[in-house]
Amino acid sequence: MSRHRLVVVSNRVPSPAREASAGGLAVGLREALEKSGGLWLGWDGRIAQAAARIAWTTPFTLATLSLNQAEYEGYYGGFSNRTLWPLMHGRLDMVHFDAEEFACYLAVNQRFADALLPLLEADDCIWVHDYHLIPLGALLRQQGVSSPLGLFLHGPVPAPEILEALPCYQQLIRSLNAYDLVGLQTEKDVRNLSDFMLRYLGGQRLADDSLMVGGHRVRIAAFPIGIDPQAFSQLALSQSMAAVSARVPLRIIGVERLDYTKGLPQRLQAFEHLLRHAPRYCGRLEFLQIAAPSRESVPEYRALRDELEAQSGRINARYASLDWIPMRYLNQLFDREHLAGLYRHSRVGLVTPLRDGMNLVAKEYVAAQDPLDPGVLILSRFAGAAERLQGALIVNPHDVGAVAAAIMRALDMPLSERRARWHQLMLEIETHDIHDWRHRFLKMLSQAHLERQQVESQKDSRCVPLASLSQHPLRPPMTASAK
Ligand code: F6P
Repeated sequence: MSRHRLVVVSNRVPSPAREASAGGLAVGLREALEKSGGLWLGWDGRIAQAAARIAWTTPFTLATLSLNQAEYEGYYGGFSNRTLWPLMHGRLDMVHFDAEEFACYLAVNQRFADALLPLLEADDCIWVHDYHLIPLGALLRQQGVSSPLGLFLHGPVPAPEILEALPCYQQLIRSLNAYDLVGLQTEKDVRNLSDFMLRYLGGQRLADDSLMVGGHRVRIAAFPIGIDPQAFSQLALSQSMAAVSARVPLRIIGVERLDYTKGLPQRLQAFEHLLRHAPRYCGRLEFLQIAAPSRESVPEYRALRDELEAQSGRINARYASLDWIPMRYLNQLFDREHLAGLYRHSRVGLVTPLRDGMNLVAKEYVAAQDPLDPGVLILSRFAGAAERLQGALIVNPHDVGAVAAAIMRALDMPLSERRARWHQLMLEIETHDIHDWRHRFLKMLSQAHLERQQVESQKDSRCVPLASLSQHPLRPPMTASAK
C-alpha cells in the first residue's frame, strides 16, 4: 500500500478546540495520518457558506468544507444523528425518519464528493469514515473513481431486524457495495452486517468469505480500533495531579460525550445504590463524572443533560455531609492531558455504555495507569472493547445492583489481582494499537481492491454499471409520498 497516497474523508477533522475529552475518531485518525502523511477532508465544524479550502499542509494536508444552516440541521442534526445514530445503537424508540433530511444527507455527501474529486491523484487510496458518509463511495464511483476505496464504521451495527426499520435501507445499505472493503469494530458487527446483506439485499457469500451484493464484490471484516498506548501513558505520567489526588483516597472516574448511548443515568443509579447499601464508603470516595457537551441541537441530548443535572444534584443532596461531597458531575470539555492525569489517579474507571462501537476511553484509562499500583476497569459487555478486554470487570449496565457490586469489588481488589488484570489488558492494548489498526485495514483494502478488479474484469462491466445504484438510485426520495 506504500505506493498509494492515503486520502481520509470523515465528518469531523481535528481542531485544537475539540481535541478534548473522550478519545474518538478525530484523535485516532490524526495519530494514523501523522505517521503516513496524505490528505484529510472533512467538515470544519462551522456553520457558514464556504467552499472547500486547504487549511494545513503538515504533516498531512487538511482540506475542509463548512455546512450551511439547512445542511447542518438536515445532514448532521437530522439524518446522521437522529436517524442513523439511534438506529445503530438499537434505540428504535428514538429513531426519527424524515425523507427531506435523508435527501439533505445525500446532497451533503454529494458536496463531499464534489470537494474531493479535484483533489484526487491517480494513485490514491481513499479511506472514508463513519455513518455520516456511507453513500460517498457510491457517489465517487459514479464519477469514475476507480481507486481502492474503503469505509470504516466506528459505531456498532445492530441486528438485521433493527436495520430493517430504516425506511431507506435499500438505497443506503446497498450502496456499501461501492467499497472494496467495509471495516467494522467487532466480529459481532461483521455478522450483523453480513446477515443483513444476505437476508435483505439478496447478497451471496463467495468461497473466499467476501459478499456479492448487487453485482459487486465487497469484503466486510473486523478491525478493532486502538490507541497509541505509549504516548498516552507518557502523557499520564507527565501530569502532576498531587493536589487533586491527595484530597480523595478513592476516586471513580467516568468520561464521555454526553450521549444517551453511554448509560449515564444507569451509572448514576448504580453509584447511588452503592452509597445506599454500603455506607462504609461514605466520606472515603468520590465519583467524578465528566460528560462533555455534545450535539446540543438535538432535543434528545438536551433532555438527557437536564436529567443528569437533576440526578447528580439529588445524589449530592441526599448523601453529602458538611465535609464530603460524593459526586462531581462536570458537563464540560477537558483536554487530553488533564484526562490522562485524572485517569492515572483514579482507582476505578467506569465505562458502562448501553451500546458502543469500541470505546477508546476504556483503552486510555488502562494505558494511563501506574503499572505498580493500577486501577481497575469496569466495562460494559455492550462496548465493542469488551470483545477483547477480558481483564476488565465486565458488567451489564442495565443491572444497577451488579454495577454497584463491581465497583465495590474494584475498590476492595487486592494489589496482586489489580496488577494481573492490568497486565492482561495492557498486553491486548499494546498488541492492537492504532498503528496496527491502520496497517491491517490498508493492507486488506489493497488486497480487496485487487480481488474486486479481477472479479469485475471477468464480467462485462458495461452490463453492471454499479447495478445496485441503477436499481436503487442514490437520489432524494419522493418526499410527499414518504411522509
Ligand atoms: O464515531 C462516533 C462519532 O460520531 C465520531 O464521528 C465523532 O468523532 C464523535 O462521535 C463525536 O461526535 P460529533 O462529531 O457528533 O460531535
